[in-house]
Amino acid sequence: MADAPESHRQRPSPHGRLTCHDSGMSGEEWTTTEHAQRYLERADDYPHRATGEATLLAQIPSSARRVLDLGTGDGRLLRIIAGERPDLVGVGLDFSAPMLDAARRYLDGQERFTLVEHDLVEQLPELGSFDVVVSSFAIHHLEDERKRSLYGEVFELLEPGGVFANLEHVASPTKRLHEAFFEAIGEPLSDEDPSDRTLDVESQLGWLRELGFADVDCYWKWLEMALLAGVKPAK
Ligand SMILES: C[S@@+](CC[C@H](N)C(=O)[O-])C[C@H]1O[C@@H](n2cnc3c(N)ncnc32)[C@H](O)[C@@H]1O
Repeated sequence: MADAPESHRQRPSPHGRLTCHDSGMSGEEWTTTEHAQRYLERADDYPHRATGEATLLAQIPSSARRVLDLGTGDGRLLRIIAGERPDLVGVGLDFSAPMLDAARRYLDGQERFTLVEHDLVEQLPELGSFDVVVSSFAIHHLEDERKRSLYGEVFELLEPGGVFANLEHVASPTKRLHEAFFEAIGEPLSDEDPSDRTLDVESQLGWLRELGFADVDCYWKWLEMALLAGVKPAK
């Protein structure tokens, strides 16, 4: 990229939507029933979200058998994947008990999905290897250093040829575009949340390349919603 973007790293994000709310800086509000419920009630409201999710789904190789969803929430991505790919089994990971309770309800009867309570601030637990690792609007809650180290852990647990697809809330390159995002999702800027840690697309794509991922790109983007993906090279 020719120009360095204005500094919008760790920019806070909209109330009750993709992101945290309330006053905390740690993201622990997600562990409250109220906060989780507020997000879930509005999760379908984002413009163009379904297009991003469909683009993510399209990155899953037909040969894939095992998927991991980081920050699974109520299992939204796993349900979408389950609808299209009845052959896949997987794990949904989150640190929020209310979210995991919702995931259990929504994934009722889907014994092929296991739910794991884990704080992504900590190194991933032993989960085995995966053909696909996905995430949706969750990793931006982590500090930048942890985002990068998590991407490295994802690379390690992917099988050769495996895909990492992160549908993420990213930072805008300019203040005007950041304001345009808020306007587009119908949220006042005053609802920005200081606990979010959005990061620009280019930095994250650079990390993925440095870590060894191939075919790294932003596969879809609409304002501050972007699908960042890469493939672990086959041996
Ligand atoms: C905006 S919601 C997205 C949920 C789901 N992926 C979706 O697309 O609907 C963010 C999710 O990230 C989870 N999360 C935030 N910080 C986390 C952390 N440190 N460890 C694990 N999960 C976290 C929250 O509990 C919440 O379920």
